[in-house]
Amino acid sequence: MGKDCGHRWSWAPWEGRVIRAGPGPRGKGQWSALVLVLVERTVVTAGPVVLVQVGADCSYPGDGPPGAHPRRPAPRARAARSPRFQSPSPPGAGTCEFRCGLGEGRARPPGGAGGTDLAARLPCQPRLCRPWDLVNVPDSGGGMRLLLLAVLRPHTGNAVTAQRVRAHLEAAGHVCVLKDAFDFGSPSEIANLILAENCEAALALHLYRAGRLLQGHRIPFGIIFGGTDVNEDAKQKEKNTVMGRVLEEARFAVAFTESMKEMAQVQWPHAKGKIYVQSQGIATTPNATFNWNTFLQRSEINQSADNLHIFLLICGLRQVKDPLYLVGAFSEWHQDEPSVYLVIVGPEVDPVFTREVKAKVKRAAGVRLIGEMPQGDLHAAVKNCFAVVNSSVSEGMSAAILEAMDLEVPVLARNIPGNAAVVRHEVTGLLFSTPQEFVHLAKRLVSDPALEKEIVTNGKAYVRMYHSWQVERDTYQQLIRKLEGSSED
Ligand SMILES: *[C@@H]1O[C@H](CO)[C@@H](O)[C@H](O)[C@H]1NC(C)=O
Ligand SMILES: *[C@@H]1O[C@H](CO)[C@@H](O)[C@H](O)[C@H]1NC(C)=O
Ligand SMILES: *[C@@H]1O[C@H](CO)[C@@H](O)[C@H](O)[C@H]1NC(C)=O
Repeated sequence: MGKDCGHRWSWAPWEGRVIRAGPGPRGKGQWSALVLVLVERTVVTAGPVVLVQVGADCSYPGDGPPGAHPRRPAPRARAARSPRFQSPSPPGAGTCEFRCGLGEGRARPPGGAGGTDLAARLPCQPRLCRPWDLVNVPDSGGGMRLLLLAVLRPHTGNAVTAQRVRAHLEAAGHVCVLKDAFDFGSPSEIANLILAENCEAALALHLYRAGRLLQGHRIPFGIIFGGTDVNEDAKQKEKNTVMGRVLEEARFAVAFTESMKEMAQVQWPHAKGKIYVQSQGIATTPNATFNWNTFLQRSEINQSADNLHIFLLICGLRQVKDPLYLVGAFSEWHQDEPSVYLVIVGPEVDPVFTREVKAKVKRAAGVRLIGEMPQGDLHAAVKNCFAVVNSSVSEGMSAAILEAMDLEVPVLARNIPGNAAVVRHEVTGLLFSTPQEFVHLAKRLVSDPALEKEIVTNGKAYVRMYHSWQVERDTYQQLIRKLEGSSED
């Protein structure tokens, strides 16, 4: 979503075939009660027909250098969310805005919100659109059969990203064959798969773990960098060489952040022109029938939900995630303040380490450990908890943090570069460097509702602006076109 366009819209989820566009959550810019009603192939509006451009063209920090911008303005207007989208859409839909020339949107038009004479009041001219523009989405100009090779351990960030990318590509009319890279021991097994599934092109999530399996099959492919590619694997000479060769063959590469892109370019200068930055799109889907009290019971928390402050640490049980970092300090706090609990939720990734965690948690008052949960339940738990905690030392982007922001739950995160890139202290969350500092900040959050409100409001705005699900969709749908045709342009 654009930064300064000023005229932001949000819409309710589909209720039958009606899109209601209305004011966004923050009252920024000028709102109007434009109502779009889709009736078969016609759009009826309560004012002039105004183009609602999904996926803004205002620049934002995730953008690549001029010329490398993968998000050309969409050739057509896009409907907010069409029932023809086959992929699961996130609830709560999203935001979109009028397309304005740069800077124009900043000027606030005179007069209050509301009214129907929209065009006259807007400082920039909304582009007119024709009904069929809005309805004819997605544009599936000949879908491809794509192999999407990823590391798919359930409920990990990678698996979630892979599902999202798959949904984006399928919404554009492509067929995605999603496979776990760990199921394939050698390139020849991949060759057989490509043949059997008749794949025309491929996309790997993880340059080393998945991308290297795609080399030499003579189908065009792109890659998405995984967190460990640049931070860990690139440091090993052999892996680094392999990754460089894969990148040579790849038609495009996607980094989640500008700094990841820069690090990759230092490692593999030859890939400079084809690395794009696309931040992770965030879509949360809380299970509507999730029962918080049952969750508390399962966590053996006996108090009534009203008096509780549950801090949730969402984390695979691996050393690198450091789930025990806060346990001692938190437990001490709980002994003074019995309403606070730390619940660690996560899959048992490393069995030996899991035993260690279990033993330690068992002895710690006020700390609970529960196993992995389906994504929808997890989001519902996040929505119900007091705050989400990240105590990780590993690098990378924490989807859990962004999802918490999207669900309007405050975030307390350890002050490491990956987290500091997302969480600005006292603005979009709170950053701590020691367990003592965590407790201090957590106490402050508990006792200062104004701070809490400020943080969740900013966090939500941040996710909408920089981790838009719709912008991510546009990027992948554009990039995948680079895989059309068997020879490089
Ligand atoms: C949602 O929660 C209900 C009640 O706990 C559960 O039965 C159901 O399986 C959950 N749905 C999903 C998709 O996880
Ligand atoms: C919670 O209640 C159950 C039964 O009512 C009891 O067995 C358990 O020890 C209690 N747990 C705590 C932490 O008080
Ligand atoms: C915490 O954040 C880091 C960096 O943002 C991320 O790599 C890690 O997966 C996150 N851990 C948890 C438990 O959310």
